[in-house]
Amino acid sequence: LASIDVDLAPVAEGQAITVTWRGKPVFVRHRNAKEIEEAKAVNLGDLRDPVADDARVKKPEWLIVIGICTHLGCVPLGQKVTDPRGDFDGWFCPCHGSHYDTAGRIRKGPAPANLVVPTYAFTGDTKIRLG
Ligand code: FES
Repeated sequence: LASIDVDLAPVAEGQAITVTWRGKPVFVRHRNAKEIEEAKAVNLGDLRDPVADDARVKKPEWLIVIGICTHLGCVPLGQKVTDPRGDFDGWFCPCHGSHYDTAGRIRKGPAPANLVVPTYAFTGDTKIRLG
């Protein structure tokens, strides 16, 4: 299946883009220091699907997740600072109220699992290849 290259350079800190890969939305978020700190500060024992922030990113400032709620497949909101982001500063799924944190981990609501991290690699300082 096809790989795609994504240039991250135009995505300023605190902003995010959505790209389509294999027919799915992929959220690429340039996290700021506060978001990274919040993601790292979480006690893994408090998580429904316990994964450390470090294990979900290749570089702390870039969070890359498939933008499909793990409940029933809606696309969560939260890509723009002006959108609602739920109670954990990440994403909010309006379909049935799942809240995801700044590492894309499920924190509240019916979704059983974290937003999925796709296969990708950095091919440059600010370039990634998905797939
Ligand atoms: Fe997201 Fe149900 S599909 S909460």
